[in-house]
Amino acid sequence: MLTFHPNPKPWHPYVPTNAQITFSSVLFKTKILPSKIENTLNEEGKQSKQSSAGKIKRLVLTQEGRAKLNTFPDREFYAYPRFVTHVDDGFISALTNLYREKLRPGWEILDLMSSWVSHLPEEVTYKRVVGHGLNAQELAKNPRLDYFFVKDLNQDQHLELESCSFDAVICTVSVQYLQQPEKVFAEVFRVLRPGGMLVVSFSNRLFYEKAISTWRDGTAYSRVQLVVQYFQCVEGFTQPETIRKVPAPAAREDKSPFSWIMRLLGLLSGSDPFYAVIAYKNFKPIYE
Ligand SMILES: C[S@@+](CC[C@H](N)C(=O)[O-])C[C@H]1O[C@@H](n2cnc3c(N)ncnc32)[C@H](O)[C@@H]1O
Repeated sequence: MLTFHPNPKPWHPYVPTNAQITFSSVLFKTKILPSKIENTLNEEGKQSKQSSAGKIKRLVLTQEGRAKLNTFPDREFYAYPRFVTHVDDGFISALTNLYREKLRPGWEILDLMSSWVSHLPEEVTYKRVVGHGLNAQELAKNPRLDYFFVKDLNQDQHLELESCSFDAVICTVSVQYLQQPEKVFAEVFRVLRPGGMLVVSFSNRLFYEKAISTWRDGTAYSRVQLVVQYFQCVEGFTQPETIRKVPAPAAREDKSPFSWIMRLLGLLSGSDPFYAVIAYKNFKPIYE
């Protein structure tokens, strides 16, 4: 189920200009059906269709590992907007700096599993930022998005976006909610241009009932490894790079009453740990 919504700016060129907004289960009304959009692949896209690039080599999660405690559809859980910030300033600043370092001005960026806030550096101008999420009201408020669409990735992992059309895909503090991460990462691979990157970041916060069991039962170390494996299960991603920025042990482990009060008042650095895993879409699969 997917709905596209325009922000004030013109329609994204990947979306046919006669597209109409609809809140029904139909994607959008257009003369070009989504399946035909697939046929508008450029040369690189055609090549990667013939090769093994983008294929899922193996499943990472077991059936039990994909289970959530709250089994109601995710769209119900996100039916009402949450105008909150999911991570603290320390995390956001680490992430924005990472984007500043990695994402070039003028790029086309897909913000997967987005909300009303953007962590992209304000001073950088990108060619286009497309947002995806589950709550249209949140996404409509996000000042960085030129376009957005709503889609439950646990229902259907196909992204109705042209192949090889983004320089970067970002996914912030959300990967733990994906029940079919292998398919989602393969789709991200498809929509990335050769050399394009996927940046997945997360902390230790989560909507516990909506996170998959492998994540809930994991440790900080195993969660990083899990995301690394999501990349590695798709043919053609480069070896993932991992980044960890955890608060100083003194700030975390000082259990004195003074430290506790300071932390309560937000006066001691108890910043959310920051983890990111990054890999690139290789120009050609390494083993062919
Ligand atoms: C914790 S919020 C993070 C939002 C945003 N990335 C940020 O940094 O503030 C988790 C997001 O994951 C998205 N999400 C959760 N389950 C989803 C699903 N099944 N399909 C698509 N998106 C989902 C929701 O849109 C929600 O906004």
